[in-house]
Amino acid sequence: MSKIDIFNERTIEGCLAAPGSKWRRHPPDVIPMFVADPDFPVADEIKDALIKSVREEDLFYNTDVEIREAMADKITATNKFNATYEDILITQGVSPGMWLAIRHACKEDGDEVVVTNPMYGPFSSAVRATKTKALIWNLDFEDGYRFDIDALKELITPKTKLIFVCNPHNPTGRMMTKEDLKGIADVAVDKNIEVFCDELHEDITFDGRKHISIASLNPEIEALTMTSWGFSKTFGVAGLQVGYMCSTNKETMDDVRVQSRSAQRGTSTLSKAAAPVMLSSALDWWREGLLVHMHKIRDIVYKRFDEIEGVSYPKLEGTYLHFPKFDYGMTSNELLEYLVKEGKIGPSSGTGFGTNGEGHLRFCIATSEVILNEALDRLERALNKLKR
Ligand SMILES: Cc1ncc(COP(=O)(O)O)c(C=O)c1O
Repeated sequence: MSKIDIFNERTIEGCLAAPGSKWRRHPPDVIPMFVADPDFPVADEIKDALIKSVREEDLFYNTDVEIREAMADKITATNKFNATYEDILITQGVSPGMWLAIRHACKEDGDEVVVTNPMYGPFSSAVRATKTKALIWNLDFEDGYRFDIDALKELITPKTKLIFVCNPHNPTGRMMTKEDLKGIADVAVDKNIEVFCDELHEDITFDGRKHISIASLNPEIEALTMTSWGFSKTFGVAGLQVGYMCSTNKETMDDVRVQSRSAQRGTSTLSKAAAPVMLSSALDWWREGLLVHMHKIRDIVYKRFDEIEGVSYPKLEGTYLHFPKFDYGMTSNELLEYLVKEGKIGPSSGTGFGTNGEGHLRFCIATSEVILNEALDRLERALNKLKR
C-alpha cells in the first residue's frame, strides 16, 4: 500500500465508528458533507508526537515560545514575509482571530467591517457579536465570484476600519490572484484600513496555483494585516484547536494580546506538541498526497455533476468545499431538507454563508473515493426523482 492510499482508507462504517461530531449530526444512514472536516485518518507522525508528550507528562503550564518560533519560521519560508515569535499569538483554531481582529481594529461605535457575501459564517457572527457594522461586498456566482475592487472601493467610508479576507475563499473555492490581493491592499493602504486574512485553506490548491499571502505584497500592507492559519483543514485535527495569528506590526500585536488575554490562553500542551510536526517537512508527504488525492476527487465530482441536469458550479481553485447551484425550484433550505430525508446525504445550506448563497449547497468533498461515489449516487438518485 502506498502512503497516499491513506486518503482512501475510510469507509462509511469506519467513519461511523470513529469519534467526532460530523458523523453524529444526522442519523447514521446519512452521509454528512456539511462541515469542512475531512474523512481521513490522522497521520502517524501527529499521533506519535501527542503520545510522546503525554508519556513525558507535558501537562503542566508550559511556555509556547518554541512553537511560536516554529510558526514564525514557517511564515517566513512559506508565506514570504519575515516574522519572529513575538509577532505570533496562538489561538484556539482560526475563528477567534476574527473576533480579536475586530476588537483591535474597531474601537468606536459605528465602526465598519467589510464582509464578502457569501463568506464562511463565523466572519458575520464576529461582526454581530462585537456590534460593529458589516459592509457587504457582494460576490456574484454568474460573474465567477470575481473580487470586484471598484465595488469594494464604493463601500468604504471614514468609519471602515477592517476588511475581512478569506483566501482561499470559503465557500466559493476561489483563490485570490496577485491582482485581486493587490487591489484589496491598495484600497487598505490608501484608506488606512486594517485587514484580517484567514488563510486556513492555504495548502489546498488546485492545478498548480500558488497561494499568496496578502501581507507578503509590500511593507505597507504587511503593517496593516493580521493573518491567521491553522491545521484543521490540512491534517483533519480540528479537535486540537490550534491556530496562529500573526501581525508584524508591534502596536497591533500588543493590542491583540491585550484583547485576547481575558478570553483565551493560547492552547493546550497537546496541541503545542503536535504543532511543530505539522509545521515541519516531516509531513510534506501528507501535504503532497492530499493534493494528489483531492485532484482525483475533484475530477470525479466535476464529472458526476456535469451529468446532472439543473446544476452549475464554480470551478474549485482552492479548498475542498464544492459550492454548486441547483435549479430545482427549491430554496437551499428546502433542498437540503429533502436531500437529508430522501437522499440520505447532508451538505450545508448555501444561505448559511449569506444571502448570495441562496440556491447553493456546500459539500465538503474531502473523503475517500468509496464514500464520495456513494454520496454522488445518492445525490443523483434524489435529484432525478425531483425531475419527474
Ligand atoms: C475559512 C475558515 N476559517 C476558519 C475555520 C474554522 O477553523 P478552526 O476550527 O481551525 O478555527 C474554517 C472551518 O471550516 C474555515 O473554513
